[in-house]
Amino acid sequence: MNYKEEIIRLKKELDVTIVAHFYQRDEVFEMGDIVGDSLELAKRAMAAPTKNIIFCGVGFMGESVKVLSPEKRVLMPKIACCAMAKMIDVEYFDENLKILNNAGISNDDILPITYINSSAAVKAAVGKMGGYVCTSSNAFKIIQKGLTSGKKIFFVPDRCLGQNFANQMKLKSAVIGMDSIEDVKNSDIICYNGFCSVHQLFTVEDIEFYKEKYPDIIVAVHPECDVKVVDRADFVGSTSQLIKFITEEISPEQKVVVGTEYNMVNRLRDKNTYVLSSTKPECPTMNETTLEDLYNALMSIKNETYDNEIVVPQDVVKYAKIALEKMFEV
Ligand code: 13P
Ligand code: SF4
Repeated sequence: MNYKEEIIRLKKELDVTIVAHFYQRDEVFEMGDIVGDSLELAKRAMAAPTKNIIFCGVGFMGESVKVLSPEKRVLMPKIACCAMAKMIDVEYFDENLKILNNAGISNDDILPITYINSSAAVKAAVGKMGGYVCTSSNAFKIIQKGLTSGKKIFFVPDRCLGQNFANQMKLKSAVIGMDSIEDVKNSDIICYNGFCSVHQLFTVEDIEFYKEKYPDIIVAVHPECDVKVVDRADFVGSTSQLIKFITEEISPEQKVVVGTEYNMVNRLRDKNTYVLSSTKPECPTMNETTLEDLYNALMSIKNETYDNEIVVPQDVVKYAKIALEKMFEV
């Protein structure tokens, strides 16, 4: 079967919008009616005119659309789970709060901020405490806003994002379980000890290799990379910010080596772009979705079986929505 032709035909026939993140396989990405970074996808999918949304991405992304627009039916061709988002659940969130309480920091002195790469349940726990969601493209603004509360920021789950933005803002940060409890007590941004295994693949040695080979090369990385990598980079940004920088802000002759997921970097290969790794930094879960899965998701709308529909409990929707909407207000 020619899945591509069938998908194009079904898209025209059904009341559906296909949403795809930049890290999707090329053939799936090309089928997207809406493509973008996690913030753009959440906003634009919410405003899509159709009842049905097929989200080609990872679980937390589909959940965010469902939380923001509970009236929509959100299906995922594969319910692939972001490895970082899996590193935290509500139990771990509460355990970490207890560690802080035992160190003398009460919940009243803490403002939690969760990276959008977390489950709806964790977002709800954050929303209940008056906290915010952020993405890699707006974390600076959200943390700045959070700090106006006069409280310490408890940043979950990505320690790298928390540390990198703390450094940009010249604030102190510490990671629970990695740094001493004294350091945790003295920091402005307290980070949960989670990370993205894909972005950990980029190293300072990779940067040195490219800088030696091409002395004028620019290094552009995602803020999920390790602090040492981000410190040595020339540009740091979300997936959309990286694309804008490479395609609009530097000359086409400028060589640029990029530290983020392979599918996205490979799509920019005609722009003098290199991958900042000797291995292929693919996100395994983003890569799970195939054209066949997408076709099956469309067929399940046609057959009214609605396979892999995202369901979020009412009370979780209520509080996760508060944390997400606070992000949009900022
Ligand atoms: P963006 O917000 O830049 O799309 O990043 C999402 C992500 O999962 C990066 O690994
Ligand atoms: Fe999650 Fe990392 Fe994959 Fe992004 S690249 S979806 S953070 S595992």
